[in-house]
Amino acid sequence: MEIQSNFSLKKYNTFGIEAKAKQFVAVHSIAELTTILEQNKSENTFILGGGSNMLLTKDIDALVIHIDLKGKKISAENEDYVWVESQAGEDWHEFVLWTIDQGFGGLENMSLIPGNVGSTPVQNIGAYGTEIKDTFVSCEALNTVNQELKTFLKEECHFGYRESTFKNEVKNQYIITSVLFKLTKRNHNINTAYGDITNELAKYNIVNPTLKEVSNAVIAIRKSKLPDPKKLGNSGSFFKNPILLKTDFEKIHQQFPEMKYYNVSETEVKVPAGWLIEQAGFKGKRFGDAGIHENQALVLVNYGNATGQEILNVSKNIQETIFKTFGIHIEAEVNVI
Ligand code: EPU
Repeated sequence: MEIQSNFSLKKYNTFGIEAKAKQFVAVHSIAELTTILEQNKSENTFILGGGSNMLLTKDIDALVIHIDLKGKKISAENEDYVWVESQAGEDWHEFVLWTIDQGFGGLENMSLIPGNVGSTPVQNIGAYGTEIKDTFVSCEALNTVNQELKTFLKEECHFGYRESTFKNEVKNQYIITSVLFKLTKRNHNINTAYGDITNELAKYNIVNPTLKEVSNAVIAIRKSKLPDPKKLGNSGSFFKNPILLKTDFEKIHQQFPEMKYYNVSETEVKVPAGWLIEQAGFKGKRFGDAGIHENQALVLVNYGNATGQEILNVSKNIQETIFKTFGIHIEAEVNVI
């Protein structure tokens, strides 16, 4: 375990922003993590996973601990289900592909989401009608103050739309070290209801898709809309889709009858922020090296040498314009550091 000083984080954030960590260390086991925390009690620490959901707007004046715990295993199984445990530092997409290769169902709709397994419960990642909470059983997390490991059961995680207890009640108090999922071995709940998936499968006349075919459809859709962070820096959806009270929404909808929306409960609707941003004229626009992706307006991109502050300014410009135009506040999904 080597602690490095004045360390560039450019390769450790999918936006590809140049920012420095005062100190940086990668840990490969819980023992290493515990040692580092104990030895640096007086230091500020910053936990870094896959760096796929953050915007660095400044250097980090702290000891950055990169969680690089690897390993995955079957913990238990019966005829119908399998319980699979993955260490936090595994690459999410590789893990998803591995479960599909084993014939385990439940994660296929979340193929190709960038990031590491340990970060997935934090914002309850989701795509194409599925969220982590649908297959999540529990996770192990290390208390940053007393270094004790705690198991968080699903009900303790308070999952919501891109929300969990790790972003709220226990924010910065725990480091997730592993996650346990319950997946199907047979009678898979294939979910192709999301319009894009239906259309993609129809192209190949696939009626009863396998897990692999659903995964391939999701990969094709994502590749067509979302930029590959290895080629164009980005953090996926920069904003959350706003959830409005139906009563408020109805007033706005009268003024903008073409506005898209989805019912989320008896009293609430979700409005696609990508639609609002496109209507406000931002889609495909570029401000220096910071821009709005041409195929999906919800994604902000770094064309090369944008600073985090420049991307943040673009995001503020978008938020203000959306509020002025539609009276709707859109909130960042990405953690702004
Ligand atoms: N839309 C536009 N213009 C755009 C983008 C979208 O009009 O530029 C409209 C589309 O026509 C569609 C609606 O907005 O009617 C929804 O678009 P899409 O299916 O692309 O999904 P999204 O709501 O923009 C969410 C997630 C994505 C996830 C997709 C698919 C959030 C914040 N984002 O995006 O997640 O992949 O659904 O399930 O909920 C991420 O979180 O990083 C992410 C990529």
